[in-house]
Amino acid sequence: MTTNRPVALVTGASSGIGKQTALALVAAGFEVVGTGRDTSRVAPLRGVTFFDLDVVSDKSVSAAVQQVIERFGRIDVLVNNAGIGSIGAAEETSVEQAQGVFDINVFGVMRMVKEVLPHMRARGRGRIINLSSVQGFIPAPYMAVYGASKHAIEGYSQSLDHEVRQYGVRSLLVEPAYTNTGFEANSAKPATPLQTYADQRRIFDRLMTEAIKDGDDPAVVAKAIVTAATDKKPKLSYAAGPMAGRARLLRFVPAWVLDKQIRTMNKLTG
Ligand SMILES: NC(=O)c1ccc[n+]([C@@H]2O[C@H](COP(=O)([O-])OP(=O)(O)OC[C@H]3O[C@@H](n4cnc5c(N)ncnc54)[C@H](OP(=O)(O)O)[C@@H]3O)[C@@H](O)[C@H]2O)c1
Repeated sequence: MTTNRPVALVTGASSGIGKQTALALVAAGFEVVGTGRDTSRVAPLRGVTFFDLDVVSDKSVSAAVQQVIERFGRIDVLVNNAGIGSIGAAEETSVEQAQGVFDINVFGVMRMVKEVLPHMRARGRGRIINLSSVQGFIPAPYMAVYGASKHAIEGYSQSLDHEVRQYGVRSLLVEPAYTNTGFEANSAKPATPLQTYADQRRIFDRLMTEAIKDGDDPAVVAKAIVTAATDKKPKLSYAAGPMAGRARLLRFVPAWVLDKQIRTMNKLTG
């Protein structure tokens, strides 16, 4: 079975931003394949074909990409959305926990890119859209490992874009702010909680819960992803919604202003 519509593959489409993105891409005229680690437990989405995919497994990545190409003939857009948060002070986070987060958020993206890129290059076209975060360019106290993983994605995506542009392929970033999904509940928690960080971590947890609850609707991020997938002249990165747009301005303020802002926002003393 092939299709005349452009084909989009969205990782982590079982919930949150990925689910809304899959639906928004269907509405924008794409043939959409969504993935989850166990799609037998995922409620069907109108117009979306689901395949199993665990981005930490080379074998699973290879099989899923192959399945999409066999079924639909090509992949025009890859949305690297699958991801996980990590909450807790840096000192409370074990290296093993950090490796687990990087395996999904960073190496998972690399696995997908390496599998899909040969097909896109051979066709001389394609777009890879990588989910970053405002924490991909500003510091993230009590989420240092997550912030580090998204900083890594920013560097990887922008460097990759320079390499593949000549082959008709673009690597683009979408940067959401806080978004109302199950992200916080699904985040890795501190491996070894330390009393010294307990009060501040509690403050952070409360701020985070409020920020996610009052955060953007995932449809806001989905809209930015559809724009990245369809823009005639794609940009290197897209802010997802007004909150993310305002956060971007922090890139241009003096370092001491950003520093003060981060400490105030996170209610850090000293
Ligand atoms: N929510 C926010 O405030 C926020 C802000 C900025 C950026 N983001 C980014 O947006 C993306 C989506 O997050 P979300 O908020 O929608 O969170 P979510 O609701 O927890 O969704 C995460 C998705 O990733 C999938 N996933 C997790 N581990 C996976 C693995 N090993 N292999 C394949 N898929 C895996 C999950 O699918 P299964 O469990 O079904 O496998 C799920 O569909 C992430 O990259 C996140 O970092 C979120």
